[in-house]
Amino acid sequence: MPDPSSMPLLKIAIYPEDEKMLRDRCRPVVKVTPRLQRLIDDMAETMQDAAGVGLAAPQVFVNQRFFIYEWNDRVDALINPEVLEVEGEASEEEGCLSLPRLQGKVVRPTRALVSGVNRRGRRVRIDAEDYLARIFLHEIDHLNGVLFIDKADRTSLHWLTEEEEKERVARVHEVLEKRRRGEPVDVDPRGAG
Ligand code: NI
Repeated sequence: MPDPSSMPLLKIAIYPEDEKMLRDRCRPVVKVTPRLQRLIDDMAETMQDAAGVGLAAPQVFVNQRFFIYEWNDRVDALINPEVLEVEGEASEEEGCLSLPRLQGKVVRPTRALVSGVNRRGRRVRIDAEDYLARIFLHEIDHLNGVLFIDKADRTSLHWLTEEEEKERVARVHEVLEKRRRGEPVDVDPRGAG
């Protein structure tokens, strides 16, 4: 992983100030270019800095159909994603980097079969379950201008205090630092996408 201090962090679109960007339907990516791959690298740094598990292009003011996600210690991208199948249903807590400190329960499928193109430009099909399925569906919603608050159980919505959010970010950064040093990590405390 590159030294974070040498990488530029991207500005994250925040709701409701940047509502127009966040509510737009994104356009398909025509080609995976080195420029897009550099943007993906910058998005990865930005996501990790903000302690997220996923980040969609419109969240960094790019109207294109792709998102990045972190899974099993690796960040990859899914470009022009399509949901092929979904199955099951579960209500779990979610957060979003565009709605800082807000959390709430969202009902989503427990399995999602998705296809798309990864950051190396290769076609992929991923059969995602549970937390990964939730990340994918949350991020694909962003590409269609949908936010988790649109689907959340209103009564479950709550804000973390600034202190709680600081603790959350600090815990995530501690986990990332351990990984960089190759130390074992037990739990991944993230939730925002
Ligand atoms: Ni989000």
